[in-house]
Amino acid sequence: MSEENAHRPSVLFVCLGNICRSPLAEAALRHAAEAAGLDMEIDSAGTASWHTGKAPDPRSCADALKHGIDISRYAARQVTAGDFQRFDRIVGLDAANLADLRRIAPVKAKARLSLLLDHVPGMEGQDVEDPYYGGPEGFETTWAQVRQAAQGLVAELSVARG
Ligand code: 4NP
Repeated sequence: MSEENAHRPSVLFVCLGNICRSPLAEAALRHAAEAAGLDMEIDSAGTASWHTGKAPDPRSCADALKHGIDISRYAARQVTAGDFQRFDRIVGLDAANLADLRRIAPVKAKARLSLLLDHVPGMEGQDVEDPYYGGPEGFETTWAQVRQAAQGLVAELSVARG
């Protein structure tokens, strides 16, 4: 196996609170990578520290469970400077998250930054809207979007590994 093929791809998803959107993105990519037989490091974090240590929002947990995935043991954390060296890719859920990531990125960051919906053909440049203040249907929209992005990322990373 070549050096490049031996590398385990790593992706960090980042939203604001790390309790609604990014845990669902983490769950969707874990599921898609496993289904594709792709060994990866996957995590999520928030730009804010408000919910550090807390489980995902009960509405995110319920939505993931509806799709057969238990995320109730995930714990929120804030993104760190070290994440920019540890991960190959850091994916912001919306434009504000991405702008915050660009602002705090160390000069010598390894991670390539992108917007989550840039990984869904036809949805480039769009935000995953924050479902925090709305009803349960918003979480289902989030799930549909992160699931498509997870499939896109798996396809991109599978091609990159050739
Ligand atoms: P998230 O949603 O960024 O998708 O985790 C939010 C969670 C909490 C808050 C805002 C957004 N909050 O204001 O506490």
